[in-house]
Amino acid sequence: MKFFIDTANLEQIKEAQDMGVLDGVTTNPSLMAKEGIKGQDNILKHYVDICNIVTGDVSAEVISTDFDGIIREGEALAELHPQIVVKVPMIKDGIKAIKYFSEKGIKTNCTLVFSAGQDLLAAKEGATYVSPFIGRLDDVSTDGLSLIEDIRIIYDNYGYETQILAASVRHPMHIIDCAKIGADVATCPLSAITALLKHPLTDSGLATFLADAKK
Ligand code: E4P
Repeated sequence: MKFFIDTANLEQIKEAQDMGVLDGVTTNPSLMAKEGIKGQDNILKHYVDICNIVTGDVSAEVISTDFDGIIREGEALAELHPQIVVKVPMIKDGIKAIKYFSEKGIKTNCTLVFSAGQDLLAAKEGATYVSPFIGRLDDVSTDGLSLIEDIRIIYDNYGYETQILAASVRHPMHIIDCAKIGADVATCPLSAITALLKHPLTDSGLATFLADAKK
């Protein structure tokens, strides 16, 4: 399973990259705003800065909601850097735009996906990635992981190549469960990735080994 980091924070992206586990980055307008990135030029430059840190795909989200606007924005984003993936919301014009981008060879990430039907549409239109938001489903008492299970079955039934990018990941168990189900990618906060390292028996075992090594 590929690990993406879900942030626009350059320090966190560098830290995950230095760990050697990072396969890509996802951003969204809220994550960009959180880092104080404002103005079109700064936003575009920030995407390029992220691409220069990592070797994998970097999702950059359009903010237009009409077909022409999505195409205009998406083409400009795709021209920024070969690693850019155009992130498009799951709306009618978004789906149409995903088909257009797919036919032009521009990679896409269909975002804000909350149902198996939405995932099926994104795959039919040729999305490179589809982003089911499992944490936000859990937040409203709906099992996010069962959506990942449903999509895995549907995509395998028909051999869709769209990659399941589990998004809105909140904690390490989400990552482990996504890996068990067979999600292609999990995009995670750095805290969830580093939490995978932790086990008290590792800490106590290492302390004993180091103490014994001095004897
Ligand atoms: C996905 O690409 C989104 O950026 C993200 O995973 C949303 O997560 P949140 O629900 O923690 O905002």
